[in-house]
Amino acid sequence: MLQKIHRIGEELLRKESEPVKEINDSIKNLVKDMFETMHEANGVGLAAPQIGQNIRLFVIDVDNNPLVFINPRIKKMTGKETAEEGCLSVPGLRECVQRATRVTAEAFDIDGHSFEIKAEGLAARAIQHELDHLDGVLFVDRISKSRKNQIRYKLEQLEAGKDLPEELDEVEEETQEEEVSQTA
Ligand code: NI
Repeated sequence: MLQKIHRIGEELLRKESEPVKEINDSIKNLVKDMFETMHEANGVGLAAPQIGQNIRLFVIDVDNNPLVFINPRIKKMTGKETAEEGCLSVPGLRECVQRATRVTAEAFDIDGHSFEIKAEGLAARAIQHELDHLDGVLFVDRISKSRKNQIRYKLEQLEAGKDLPEELDEVEEETQEEEVSQTA
């Protein structure tokens, strides 16, 4: 079932989420809803707090490889890379964020088995972005102060629950952004 995606300005996106205690049917249903909601919104990642559950669980789907991360932890991060990022909870805003290039993460899957994954590029970025959600951090917290000042008005609009007006040059941008047009 499609779920409402909560937006920046809502308190639950700023909370530290609690570990998942048991992978029961309600968690399995939640994961199903998360994939459905994420795919419908054309996202590559979605964290449970974004649909109103403050628990440590997120899903990603990069290159048609859907993965569930329950109680995830990043064990290792290497390299640095800056790329444009968006977030389904911050609609209409895309900003450059520096992240580690490669991460090694561990988590439990939907069957309760622990797994370890080495990821790079977009998958590594998505894992870092989603894990941030579980700690109440949004990608706009990771942009420079000066840039944040420049987009203050947009952030205030979003936090007040308003949509950003569509950019006039959006069509032009569309072609160059195609490759990196991913929203988590
Ligand atoms: Ni996000």
